[in-house]
Amino acid sequence: MNSNAEAGTAVYTPLTLQAYDLWVLGLSNRFAWACPTPRLQEHFERHVGARHLDIGVGTGYFLAHCRFPADTPRIALADLNPASLAAAASRIRHLQPSTHMVNVLEPFSLAGAPFDSVSMNYLLHCLPGPLAAKAPAIRHATQQLAPGGVLFGATILGQGVRHNAFGSVLMSLYNRRGIFGNRDDSLAALRELLARELEDVAVELVGRVALFSGRRRA
Ligand SMILES: C[S@@+](CC[C@H](N)C(=O)[O-])C[C@H]1O[C@@H](n2cnc3c(N)ncnc32)[C@H](O)[C@@H]1O
Repeated sequence: MNSNAEAGTAVYTPLTLQAYDLWVLGLSNRFAWACPTPRLQEHFERHVGARHLDIGVGTGYFLAHCRFPADTPRIALADLNPASLAAAASRIRHLQPSTHMVNVLEPFSLAGAPFDSVSMNYLLHCLPGPLAAKAPAIRHATQQLAPGGVLFGATILGQGVRHNAFGSVLMSLYNRRGIFGNRDDSLAALRELLARELEDVAVELVGRVALFSGRRRA
């Protein structure tokens, strides 16, 4: 496994995942990143399809709270970390998701592909290096989509945004430890990266978080 990629996933253990919803989705989103979780949920529900792949699943919060556009959505979960996969799969077991151990920076193929939508929520800022080094993640995610399918997600930026005191402490700590790799991530670079693979690209800044979407070319 790429050891840089491992740093962005190693922090997610059964113990830290228990605190994730409160610390990240409750406190950090509102007070550090100024992007409350209900805003991310709205973005998620606007784009999610009936055949959906979530990459970088964490605790599965957004899937668990989602209103899907079908009574029986087909859900696939992909993550480099087995603890995240287990936590998310257990949380949405009523949806009978398939689970896949995947490093998004390396090519992969999934039995359930193609999907109507793929989400990457709070994944890009966990990947190492400048945004240009994260291009493979966008490419590999896009390859899982049916033509016209939507790739969407959200990522915390490090450039071109002004972090408050709480956010600056977290940015510095997380980047030093390799939990985040987003010091150089900017809105313009993200837009450019997405436009290489997708059409109808939309990027919106909410607080210090970029919410994005785009369609696989037909
Ligand atoms: C910050 S959590 C996001 C969880 C969830 N999507 C959310 O928005 O609450 C990041 C997740 O991405 C996973 N991850 C990190 N690097 C990865 C990689 N290279 N490939 C696949 N998953 C990765 C981690 O294991 C973790 O489950």
